[in-house]
Amino acid sequence: MSEFFRFRRFRPWLLAAGLLALLPALPVMAQQEPISPLPLDALVDHLGKTLDTRKVVLGEKLFHDKRLSGDNTITCASCHNLARNGADVPERPVSLGVGGAQGAVNAPTVFNARYNFRQFWDGRAANLAEQVSGPVRNLVEMGSSWPEVMTKLNRDSALAAQFQSIYSDGVQSKNIQDAIAAYEMTLTTPNAPFDKWLRGEKGALTAEELQGYQLFKSYGCIACHQGVNVGGNMYQTFGVMGDYFAARGNPTEADNGRFNVTRDPADMHVFKVPSLRNVALTPPYFHDGSAQTLEQAVDVMFRYQVGLRAKPQEKALIVKFLHTLTGQYRGKSLAR
Ligand code: HEC
Ligand code: HEC
Repeated sequence: MSEFFRFRRFRPWLLAAGLLALLPALPVMAQQEPISPLPLDALVDHLGKTLDTRKVVLGEKLFHDKRLSGDNTITCASCHNLARNGADVPERPVSLGVGGAQGAVNAPTVFNARYNFRQFWDGRAANLAEQVSGPVRNLVEMGSSWPEVMTKLNRDSALAAQFQSIYSDGVQSKNIQDAIAAYEMTLTTPNAPFDKWLRGEKGALTAEELQGYQLFKSYGCIACHQGVNVGGNMYQTFGVMGDYFAARGNPTEADNGRFNVTRDPADMHVFKVPSLRNVALTPPYFHDGSAQTLEQAVDVMFRYQVGLRAKPQEKALIVKFLHTLTGQYRGKSLAR
């Protein structure tokens, strides 16, 4: 008899009801990884709206147009090489602008920039369109001004007509910004091995790469480098666990990070957490371009963000994982 009652305590209908209640949560449970794959369709914006390909075509042209610079020598692509990594050449800790002028920080890649919550190391531009004004007017980048650029572009009647066919007010700084931003929306690099793994292709990662990902999570790198861009979705202090800047020496104004934007002492040395997508291809690292290799960058992160000394073997595994974040541009895997 007692056996019978014990058996009765197992209530299949309760189990079934419990499973039914879980159903709405299933999609969430299926994507419990803190990183999500890059969307495969770059022609759709974050609101699900299809991009205007006329703007994309115009934006691509402008991205490669020297007339956006004061002395007609520099294009956006001069510092953001799309044939390689969307960033500057590895020999340059900081970029060279008009007349060989030296910039203050390392050029980040434009690939996947659309998925960053703000633009620039210190987040001073809210979006891609706003960002464009930075380099055009920056004296050590393109060294020009909007009136100057508009005058030059308006002299090109074919180009002016192309503007007119899309924008009723023709060549305007806001339209230049809008078109370049539309083009930049297409600069994405989906299908990295890690993304394939996230999509369920379990063979896309080796056992060591997967171990590297586990370490990336267990050491807390994931607390800052997460989401679709493996970064780019929050601000954090550089030097949470130690004074990176004192150790490095030679302080610069750019080291102040977001403080330069807000003047709030709490924002001293605070930076946008950079995306780690394609990071294997974008040395040198950090806003100051101080780390030549990924190994060095991971060492610095362990020391100043996690507060530990990296074990060589674990560091090597994490670096292997970081290599799996290299994606494809226009169907071809990026390479150095
Ligand atoms: C002289 C080199 C140079 C030129 C020319 C240049 N950039 Fe940059 N770009 C940089 C540097 C350096 C940064 C980082 C600046 C900072 O954060 O303060 C940057 C940052 C960016 C970012 C932000 C990426 C991020 O993750 O925050 C985007 C987007 C971008 N540039 C697009 C462009 C476009 C579009 C043009 C042309 C209108 C352009 N750049 C011209 C060097 C350059
Ligand atoms: C508390 C937040 C935080 C944690 C934890 C953290 N990072 Fe970072 N990471 C940052 C910030 C902020 C930067 C940018 C620093 C700068 O250049 O100003 C950065 C930069 C990097 C870069 C250089 C990217 C580039 O393009 O220059 C790499 C690589 C990196 N982190 C890897 C890691 C790894 C691996 C771990 C774990 C061991 C880790 N991070 C933990 C916040 C963090």
